[in-house]
Amino acid sequence: MRRAIAEAAVGDEQKREDPSVNALQERVAALLGQEAAIFVPTATMANQIALKLHARPGEVLIAEQHAHVAIYEYGGPAAHAGLMTLGLPGDRGRLTPEQVRRAAEPSSKVADQRATVLSLEDTHNASGGRVWPLDVLDEVVVAARELELAVHLDGARLLNASVALGVAPSEIAGRFDTVTLCLSKGLGCPLGALLAGPREPMERAWREKHLFGGAMRQAGIVAAAGTYALEHHVERLADDHARARTLAEALHDAGMPVDLEQVETNFVQIDLGPLGLDRADALARLQAAGVGLSTTPHDRVLRAVTHLDVTDEDIALAAERIPEVLL
Ligand SMILES: Cc1ncc(COP(=O)(O)O)c(C=O)c1O
Repeated sequence: MRRAIAEAAVGDEQKREDPSVNALQERVAALLGQEAAIFVPTATMANQIALKLHARPGEVLIAEQHAHVAIYEYGGPAAHAGLMTLGLPGDRGRLTPEQVRRAAEPSSKVADQRATVLSLEDTHNASGGRVWPLDVLDEVVVAARELELAVHLDGARLLNASVALGVAPSEIAGRFDTVTLCLSKGLGCPLGALLAGPREPMERAWREKHLFGGAMRQAGIVAAAGTYALEHHVERLADDHARARTLAEALHDAGMPVDLEQVETNFVQIDLGPLGLDRADALARLQAAGVGLSTTPHDRVLRAVTHLDVTDEDIALAAERIPEVLL
């Protein structure tokens, strides 16, 4: 990847003259079953631009209550698009068509605030990297379309979902109006994300990108990393998933409160509740033992993540040390 970065052909990205950025955008649009894609620095920016494309101030965004767009983007939907976010309780990150229908129902007021956009997340971060089964996803997307909602996919980890399901990314992403894909997570790039969708809204997305200060210059050095990652780091996501499973099973066998059913991709969630530990205490013990876990929106749940820098040896070590310090 460093070599691809060093050798990247570059140009002025703001003028759409960077060949590496242009190539990545075309590649990602095709990968996601969309007409066009636009390169941005972060997945947060991609999500926020999408919301601005789909809705006007005063309208309502429907999302799962722990979705990244609802709780980790600093109120961006309100700040940037003027949206009120309605966060609905999900099951494994999923919403039902019935939930969406109820949430989109107009109230009795005449000049009503109306739901106009639904954002779904796949894989769903806060539930532990859970994957939407395609038929379940379809039902919700169909319901949203009947309600005339725009549907956005926060597919920051979409490729983890496609690898876990064994389907092409376009099978999932092609069902949506707009799709975010992040390069800096399991794909291992230093930064970068793309927003994909039909050609006309993606043209408008360019304006939003400038407004956000996200239009760049010789961004090809980053885009080349993205292309490299799509060529070399996608199939290997299955290795991350296998390592997460190995870790989960080892922790479970050691008596740790780990729900094996939760482990569908590259996250392992550890429930501190039954251990009687609070988060700060657990994290301090783990840090002292050289194990880095992250927090989740759930008070007592910690998260282990596998990615391309985590080896089998790391997993073996973590499987040994985590129970040592937490049990
Ligand atoms: C589901 C999801 N969407 C979006 C983002 C935002 O990504 P970025 O850090 O590139 O803004 C994250 C980051 O963790 C995420 O988990």
